[in-house]
Amino acid sequence: MSEKGLKIKEPKGKLGVLLPGLGAVGSTLVAGTELIRHGFAKPFGSLTQMGTIRLGKRTENRVPKIKDFVPLAELEDIVFTGWDVYPESVYESAVHSGVLKKEDLDKVRPQLESYKPLKAVFDKYYVKRLDGSHVKVGKTKMDLAELLMKDMQEFKQANDLTRMVMVWCGSTEIFLDHDPIWDTLDSFERGLKENHPAISNSMIYAYAALKLGVPYINGAPHMTTDMPALLELAKQNNVVVAGKDFKTGQTLMKTIIAPGLKARLLGVSGWFSTNILGNRDGEVLDEPGSFKSKEVTKLSALDHIFQPEKNPDLYGDLYHKVRINYYPPAGDNKEGWDNIDIFGWLGYPMQIKVNFLCRDSILAAPIALDLALFADLAQRAGMSGIVEWLSFYFKSPIVAKGLYPEHDLFIQLKKLKNTLRYMMGEELITHLGLEYYED
Ligand SMILES: NC(=O)c1ccc[n+]([C@@H]2O[C@H](COP(=O)([O-])OP(=O)(O)OC[C@H]3O[C@@H](n4cnc5c(N)ncnc54)[C@H](O)[C@@H]3O)[C@@H](O)[C@H]2O)c1
Repeated sequence: MSEKGLKIKEPKGKLGVLLPGLGAVGSTLVAGTELIRHGFAKPFGSLTQMGTIRLGKRTENRVPKIKDFVPLAELEDIVFTGWDVYPESVYESAVHSGVLKKEDLDKVRPQLESYKPLKAVFDKYYVKRLDGSHVKVGKTKMDLAELLMKDMQEFKQANDLTRMVMVWCGSTEIFLDHDPIWDTLDSFERGLKENHPAISNSMIYAYAALKLGVPYINGAPHMTTDMPALLELAKQNNVVVAGKDFKTGQTLMKTIIAPGLKARLLGVSGWFSTNILGNRDGEVLDEPGSFKSKEVTKLSALDHIFQPEKNPDLYGDLYHKVRINYYPPAGDNKEGWDNIDIFGWLGYPMQIKVNFLCRDSILAAPIALDLALFADLAQRAGMSGIVEWLSFYFKSPIVAKGLYPEHDLFIQLKKLKNTLRYMMGEELITHLGLEYYED
């Protein structure tokens, strides 16, 4: 490493990955990691495990794997735990979720059966369609936060961990309007003690994590750490936060296709997106409050990529509609349709139809893994607060006040890789390349 890089602590010892929510994504992450650790499968879709990074000039031929370039925790050093409102083990949850085949799950059945969720912090007001009773009891939200901290400390001690990260894989909570108690850490803590309704379940988890110096990553679309109070706590305790909403399925496709249309100055007059999905996430999103949280994150991506205010002729009249329909027979195999009305030279119309038969949790699990490993890296590199370079993984990236989020997948990837180069003191890559043509 050159002297220019950041001082990064070595990933010595074990890393605890804490998962509020052991449903489809959580169980696919844990089961997948076990299958990979035991040599039964490969970590497709994971940048930390399979991705490479170019260093220096194209003529230097230095293209290591990312995991050989930056000091990441090894998969062998990860220890999982989680909380859920249902008491079933990760094995049972994975069987119910129906993402992975039973014959695959059975290869690591004893390991998966040993993962039993801790009792959740859960108030149904924030997720109307869930009914689990495996929940903690406490007089105030502050008491509940303390119970979570106790869980984390006990887990850390029992497994001899050196570090932990928390990745929210729980259900989408209802959309909450801005509340002044979110404005400062003081008012937020008062709200915890007074059971204020503007403090959701996920905010209690995030508070507990940040209090203990544990990075908090939000995989769901609802708001959690994207408020001044929790950002203040993150800064105060020098902890990393990132979010929100894992970028999978239709939005992943949008942020691949839209930058291409924009690059070629093709106009878009309409983009209609509809989805059918039949898993528990689909059932929760069938409820208007939770759908509203999702709709907000799904709609914002196109606006930021097309910048209609800067390109009014091309994107000023874009009609964008997103629908999610709960359809039980589809299970976790979500089907998305996009109808894109575009126009080119002289305004002549064309259409693109995309029918994506995706497996949502197969796309989400490697994202959750990468986020846990990169958040741990960022933490060891002395970063704190929002780590925008992880926006590659999110539908609705959290960014500093006054900034618009970058949604273009390719810009996000460049930002991520340049951040890794910066951390390690390597030259950033600008793609200028004039030097190859100098005499
Ligand atoms: N599946 C994907 O590809 C994908 C993509 C982007 C975002 N997400 C988001 O990730 C989250 C998880 O998705 P999923 O498909 O695994 O859903 P899921 O319904 O299968 O799993 C969510 C789990 O969280 C549990 N839960 C809810 N509230 C909890 C709480 N307060 N404490 C502990 N556990 C709690 C539920 O009981 C459930 O087991 C959702 O918010 C979803 O919107 C998923």
